[in-house]
Amino acid sequence: MLDYQAPPALLADKTIAITGATAGIGRAAALSYAAHGAHLVLLGRDPVKLQALCDEIAAGGGGARPCCGVLDLALADQASTRACVAALGLTRLDGLLLNAGVLGTLGPLADIDEGEWLRVQQINVSANLWLLQACLPLLRRAPAASILLTSSGVGKRGRAGWGSYAVSKFATEGMMQVLADELAQTHIRVNCINPGATRTAMRAAAKPDEDPMTLRTPADLMPLYLYLMGADSEPQTGRSWDAQPK
Ligand SMILES: NC(=O)c1ccc[n+]([C@@H]2O[C@H](COP(=O)([O-])OP(=O)(O)OC[C@H]3O[C@@H](n4cnc5c(N)ncnc54)[C@H](OP(=O)(O)O)[C@@H]3O)[C@@H](O)[C@H]2O)c1
Repeated sequence: MLDYQAPPALLADKTIAITGATAGIGRAAALSYAAHGAHLVLLGRDPVKLQALCDEIAAGGGGARPCCGVLDLALADQASTRACVAALGLTRLDGLLLNAGVLGTLGPLADIDEGEWLRVQQINVSANLWLLQACLPLLRRAPAASILLTSSGVGKRGRAGWGSYAVSKFATEGMMQVLADELAQTHIRVNCINPGATRTAMRAAAKPDEDPMTLRTPADLMPLYLYLMGADSEPQTGRSWDAQPK
């Protein structure tokens, strides 16, 4: 599905929420989903960046102006996440892309600082669970819905030095598998995407000596992101997908 060609109206009439929409892969997904007709719900921690992205999407004629919610995943707990989603006033959700994440400090497990470990698990794992809980009632109201979690190669095969980040991505794969099984008899499908090495700020932080021009861009990954969010991927569920060839 890496060469999937999405119909122009693939996501027409779909309401799709995206976390980490203001940078990197999430931003590319927001622009791509809007261009394919989606009504977006953009979640981010920075209200100025969120408004700028809303303005850009609205100016691009990609349909209705996105709805924005400010949520710092480092601080989000079950109650505040529920309150944030409730305040958006949504009646249903057709898609949820859990994309936001942090790399944390790379290094051996033996040396990981307690606070840094907890921060990475909070943003990459716990906050996603709170968002899933808050959004499931809205996803149940859609005729068909897609949940995408964001994994990593180091979330499928551990690698020395990737520490708390790698462990958080194993947890992400696990969360996807458990939820997909729990929702197997429903119209909600749940999958993971592993973007692979991609030209973003996170990758530059992980590999400062790498030439970013050798990497695929977030926009290059969008065929799979579109496929998994649109109806052509029904009824795929419980799978981990690579957005780049190995
Ligand atoms: N790039 C790669 O090579 C690669 C490879 C494998 C997996 N991934 C995964 O792909 C996803 C996107 O990564 P990326 O490369 O696009 O990274 P990125 O450019 O660093 O973007 C990360 C996004 O997460 C948001 N975020 C970070 N901390 C947050 C917080 N406390 N509350 C709310 N939002 C927060 C950021 O918000 P701001 O815009 O406010 O900074 C940003 O929008 C991540 O889950 C990452 O683990 C990336």
